[in-house]
Amino acid sequence: MCGIVGNITNKPIKDLLINGLTELEYRGYDSVGIATIGSDNKISIIKNKGKIKDFANKYQNKSLQGNLGIGHTRWATHGIPSETNAHPIYDSDKKLAVVHNGIIENYLEIKKDLIKEGFEFFTDTDTECIANLISSFLKKDYTMIDSITKTSERIIGHAAVLVISEYFPSTIFGFKKGFAGSILVSKNNGEISISSDMQALGFDVGDYVVLEDNEIFLANSNKVEIYTDKKLISKEWKKINEKSELVTKGKYKYFMEKEIHEQPNLFSDNFSGRIDFVNKSISFIDEINKIDLRKFKRIHLIGMGSSYNACLLGSYWIEKIAKIPTVCSNSSEFRYRDPVIEEGTLIIPVSQSGETADTLSASHLMKQSGYDQLSIVNAKNTELDRITNNSIYMRANKEIGVASTKTFMSTLQILFTIALYLAQNSNSKLINNKLFDDYKNIPNYMNNILDNSELIKKISKKYSEYSNFLYLGRGYNYPIAMEGALKLKELSYIHAEGYPAGEMKHGPISLIEDKMPVFAIITDGVYLNKMISNIREIDSRNGNIIVLSNCPDKLDKSWYSDLINFDYTDDNFSPFLSTVCIQLFSIYIAMERNLDIDQPRNLAKSVTVE
Ligand code: F6R
Repeated sequence: MCGIVGNITNKPIKDLLINGLTELEYRGYDSVGIATIGSDNKISIIKNKGKIKDFANKYQNKSLQGNLGIGHTRWATHGIPSETNAHPIYDSDKKLAVVHNGIIENYLEIKKDLIKEGFEFFTDTDTECIANLISSFLKKDYTMIDSITKTSERIIGHAAVLVISEYFPSTIFGFKKGFAGSILVSKNNGEISISSDMQALGFDVGDYVVLEDNEIFLANSNKVEIYTDKKLISKEWKKINEKSELVTKGKYKYFMEKEIHEQPNLFSDNFSGRIDFVNKSISFIDEINKIDLRKFKRIHLIGMGSSYNACLLGSYWIEKIAKIPTVCSNSSEFRYRDPVIEEGTLIIPVSQSGETADTLSASHLMKQSGYDQLSIVNAKNTELDRITNNSIYMRANKEIGVASTKTFMSTLQILFTIALYLAQNSNSKLINNKLFDDYKNIPNYMNNILDNSELIKKISKKYSEYSNFLYLGRGYNYPIAMEGALKLKELSYIHAEGYPAGEMKHGPISLIEDKMPVFAIITDGVYLNKMISNIREIDSRNGNIIVLSNCPDKLDKSWYSDLINFDYTDDNFSPFLSTVCIQLFSIYIAMERNLDIDQPRNLAKSVTVE
């Protein structure tokens, strides 16, 4: 979702801002813009609907002078993606310009008041209120810091904002309210770089500081000051010690294809320091040292999208394997339903980006209520890290494909390992040699799927023209049916529903006909016979069935149209393998339909608005 950059530099400002925005491209966006202040102290803005490369082409001959600027990738919330609505946005006098992540909930009311004061509005954005509000306070002779403070107090909602102004042509200001993504401010030898994430800072050395809720900063080449409640505060500056990682597609056509293929190695990496295959033990000794997981009586997992699907599966594993009552919630629902949480509950928020507004709000609520939390995140130094103060990292490296694949897999693996860890501590008989042998073999089984993916490609091709799909699974593979439907929707824009197969007779069965293929995940275990009954019922109604199974010998060929099979394991482990198959099925269908695999339409990698 929206990304913010800002620079004060001796290098060519336009190129630097565009490079920063390119680093944020993975987040998803629909328009781009930058604003700079030249030596004449005037603001120049260039912006465009569409991708950064189109923006760069359009303005390739436009030179922008000066050494200070801000930039933005916008993901439309208020007003269509267009050049007019793209940020930066001027105030009505064109004396200042702002870029904004987040949503201002009371913008209509503010707009009405400002119009009465004589301000004009030229865009459909809520952001224009911020520009005009700051301007209105400046006109009343408030200082810039006071004007920003008053603006932040007046708005309801979430905002991460940068401001430049002709009144202070050497300074970038910014503020943060609530959860609308991070703002990192960094300095190095008189140069300033500001960004929504570490990768886009552009500095490999230097110091950085992270802006917190209700903080305002001003930065110029001499100093960076941070204020809260109009008071100057001192904050801890940290050393930048993460070299930006150069991610390429390698031999693959798409990042997502590469990310799917990285999963076996990543799975092995995630064993390290957690699973001791020699002594047959599980620990998080170097990772979870601020809380003792064994003290909790209940667990509540929260997440959105694929992270929610992972939480759902995690709740099955933890209850089944560790026998600890565990539930999961969609963060956006959880946040507003006044949740009643028992004492002794551990909250586990899951978010690959660590920036999902709904999950941040839910986690913040739990922090205010005093619950212990352990987050599972991929990106370090994110807002969720800071709220929970305890994180397990996915070790998935950077995921560029907007739709999650390898981060979903890492989350599953961490949740499964937590279940084993908790079971080990209650001396469960489950934690035996066979379990360790099976777990260790999962990457090999994944490679078997990837090495034989031609069959999945062939089947995907056959089904690529269909408009509707039903995904069914039970037990551990019900969340994977949900994830399969989500991946298909996201990548190929095909309507797909994921259901627990037991639910089929309670409504979805009315949809069954030959034009609605059913993707049934059938694994050996307690659900086998129930799943067989389900596909028999579908077959009796002329349904078109694709079976994904690790026990095809237990099924009759006449019961389904197509079969994708994967290695047999204990049912506990089957989701790791069925996941790889549903990912390949979706990506191949989308490739067949010639779609934008890495940046599907309308999607964002960091969903920074609720
Ligand atoms: C699905 C997908 C989204 C995210 C969701 C939560 O492929 O990418 O559904 O899973 O937006 O994102 P995080 O995990 O960053 O909180």
